Amino acid sequence: MTYSIIDHFFDVVVVGAGGAGLRASLGMSAAGLKTACLTKVFPTRSHTVAAQGGISAALNNTGDGDDWRHHFYDTVKGSDWLGDQDAIEYLCKNAVDAVIELEHMGVPFSRDENGNIYQRKFGGHTIDHGKSMANRACAAADRTGHAILHTLYQQCLAHNTEFFVEYFTLDLLMDDQGVCKGVIAWCLDDGTIHRFRAHMVVLATGGHGRTFFTCTGAHTCTGDGNAMVLRAGLPLADMEFIQFHPTGIYGAGCLISEAVRGEGGYLTNSLGERFMLKYAPNAKDLASRDVVSRAIAIEVKEGRGCGPNKDIAMLHMEHLDPKIIAERLPGISETARVFAGVDTCKDPIPVQPTVHYNMGGIPTNYHAEVTKDSQENVVQGLMAIGEAACVSVHGANRLGTNSLLDLVVFGRAAALRAKEVVCPGSPHEQLPDSVTDKILDRFDKTRHASGKLLTGNIRLNMQQIMQNHCGVFRNQEILDSGREKLAECANALDNLQINDHSLIWNTDLVEALELQNLLAQAVVTVDSARYRTESRGGHAREDFPDRDDQEWLAHTLVWCDEKFSTNLDKRPVHMYTLTDEVELITLQKRVY
Ligand code: FUM
Repeated sequence: MTYSIIDHFFDVVVVGAGGAGLRASLGMSAAGLKTACLTKVFPTRSHTVAAQGGISAALNNTGDGDDWRHHFYDTVKGSDWLGDQDAIEYLCKNAVDAVIELEHMGVPFSRDENGNIYQRKFGGHTIDHGKSMANRACAAADRTGHAILHTLYQQCLAHNTEFFVEYFTLDLLMDDQGVCKGVIAWCLDDGTIHRFRAHMVVLATGGHGRTFFTCTGAHTCTGDGNAMVLRAGLPLADMEFIQFHPTGIYGAGCLISEAVRGEGGYLTNSLGERFMLKYAPNAKDLASRDVVSRAIAIEVKEGRGCGPNKDIAMLHMEHLDPKIIAERLPGISETARVFAGVDTCKDPIPVQPTVHYNMGGIPTNYHAEVTKDSQENVVQGLMAIGEAACVSVHGANRLGTNSLLDLVVFGRAAALRAKEVVCPGSPHEQLPDSVTDKILDRFDKTRHASGKLLTGNIRLNMQQIMQNHCGVFRNQEILDSGREKLAECANALDNLQINDHSLIWNTDLVEALELQNLLAQAVVTVDSARYRTESRGGHAREDFPDRDDQEWLAHTLVWCDEKFSTNLDKRPVHMYTLTDEVELITLQKRVY
């Protein structure tokens, strides 16, 4: 079928309206660039709204001696030395200004007794290389993402960003030189097809948690931008690094913020033991997430899990002052009541490690420009930010609260770079129709798919494969058999059945397109995990239990073709800093 196309011409198109997309849109609009922000959900429904515990910045409001260099050290260590130290320096050095900027924009942070931004403890946040725990997480109760997202949206409106709400972006317009020239999007509301030409496309499309059965992410977290990048013949990086948050509610998967442990909560096993004392004698329950998740998994494996199936841990906060709970942790108290039937002032919450964050994604430099190979050559016209991107500041494991920071610091960095490289109002070169046609052919083929298998069934199968074959602990055998099963899932896509062929609010088709996106990412995640024969951060291989810096002080790059065959390569970690204001953190054993 031929589709009629509505054309738009912008300087910049941002895809995604979470924290990163909005911070970039705001900066670009403020810089005088004609900016469109495309989003498949209303901006304030983006998944940033669910971020709970805080945004990190060494403000030192409690006078604990915190400094951005401590933040830098903790982030490098948290990343298990896979993070690029130049990018981490950029993140941590800009953190204080970024949070003050948010405060000035109007983010309603909680306040301490002096009226300053309230700061709490979080996993892996320390002073002086682990000597004591730092109060670094700047919080708006336990709804920090909500507060930031709404403020950024208001600021974008004030700066005249043009929003295209409930537009599902199908693919990138790439010319024959590999330059990105815009995107094609489908308006869900009226079924029209739109071609957005832009001198810079910024992918801020979030993570792909929904490759897994249980995750803290919204159902919309399908990593659409990552899949567009793969279809454009470009690589993704470090896809094996999936973060399991230690405290997802058992069964439901909803997040119970690490802020609970930051405020004095703790975990126990079926013997009532505070088992984290054994795994992380210094940081205890505030060790980094990969360490705590593995500890829970080991307790369960060794028969000390709680609950009827002995497969969970208990998170206690019933000893905390109810006033503190009401003031600082109202959101999770409500979540625990609704989804676990628990009154947090009286009983512990049943929790288990739950997929929470993707450290991997679209490789970029610290200016947010997408890179395409192990030499880090830049793709002209394309940027990526936020969870979609792999800068890489989180390396093999992200510290809690560094995600909200990443969104605003690199959203701003993207705007600064776009201002340098895009000339406002400059004309758009012609693009052959074949570029658009190829995108719409895939769309049309999916829309009219007449096989026998429903999207929901294939998706469930994929999610269960990922859950069972790419979990907290992995080994060759389990990964290989997961990969075989994913290949069957990929074949099932050829037998897809779409029952609704209309163009208006066709959720059947949206979910099928999202499934195609998810499946590509499931495949590259498992293949990257098979490739990396070591254990580092969130990637724990039972058959290769040690970190191997000789072979693997490197980022994984993975390409995936239409038939779901992959190619893999590595690129070295940046073991250098941007300035001499901070010292390189040399390789060390990672203990908490
Ligand atoms: O536990 C939390 O509040 C999550 C924070 C984060 O992922 O940064």
